[in-house]
Amino acid sequence: MSTVLVTGANRGIGLEFVRQYAGDGWTVIACCRDTEGEGAAELRAITAEADGSVSIEPMDMLDHGSIEAIAKEYAGTPIDVLLNNAGIIGPVPIQDHLGAQHFGTIDYEVWDKVIRTNTFAPIKMAEEFLGNVLAGTEKKIITLSSTVGSFQEDVTPAFCYCTSKTAVTKAVQLMSEELKDKNVVAMAFCPGHVKTRMGIGGATVEIPDSVAGMRSMIANFSMADTGSYRRFNGDTIAW
Ligand SMILES: NC(=O)c1ccc[n+]([C@@H]2O[C@H](COP(=O)([O-])OP(=O)(O)OC[C@H]3O[C@@H](n4cnc5c(N)ncnc54)[C@H](OP(=O)(O)O)[C@@H]3O)[C@@H](O)[C@H]2O)c1
Repeated sequence: MSTVLVTGANRGIGLEFVRQYAGDGWTVIACCRDTEGEGAAELRAITAEADGSVSIEPMDMLDHGSIEAIAKEYAGTPIDVLLNNAGIIGPVPIQDHLGAQHFGTIDYEVWDKVIRTNTFAPIKMAEEFLGNVLAGTEKKIITLSSTVGSFQEDVTPAFCYCTSKTAVTKAVQLMSEELKDKNVVAMAFCPGHVKTRMGIGGATVEIPDSVAGMRSMIANFSMADTGSYRRFNGDTIAW
């Protein structure tokens, strides 16, 4: 039986990863920051139907202590796929806070929080759960980045979000080099413009399609793919 850990597991893309992996018989460690609230109701329902194969764990990407606590709880447990999914674009509703991201009116507290969530947390997760990944069979660390982090493919003027994704993609590349001799595949994904809370402004991709595309690629990744930056449909994203 394979095991996946998913962050930001209570809604959107993360919730769908939980649904699909659980549906395929995987053991799922579903992490989210508010395990009891309305925002995690669907996740709790999936867990209740899963007969013990899905567990919900409290984890806030902005609180490294909470990451360390869950890593300690799972010490020695093999994790085949570590899925860094949790992320923020900035304060929501996004359309009411666009000025915080735009040159001339940048809100540096917002930028700080976006970088800590989208860039620091995935690497902290990898540091804390590396032992689990090494004990797994698949040895994969997958991080949700975005095409907006690419120099060549995008010039969306959202300073906070875009730079956080540029930085995490670079950090994933560096991490992949560090982990090559341990046979760990580390790579970054853009899930497409997906119809989630975050995917405003003409999102075209259905959540199940994005996740199914990424899952099929994750299943086939080998060391030849480590360090790569890919879209859910298989494209390689230009830096
Ligand atoms: N949707 C798109 O078009 C798109 C495009 C490119 C990349 N992405 C990336 O895909 C990933 C998933 O996004 P999504 O579209 O599913 O967005 P979403 O619906 O807004 O879901 C984001 C998830 O991240 C969680 N999260 C945010 N801050 C957190 C924190 N401090 N600690 C723990 N969890 C936290 C949220 O939890 P709460 O419910 O508690 O807020 C939620 O579960 C993100 O990394 C995003 O940047 C999405």
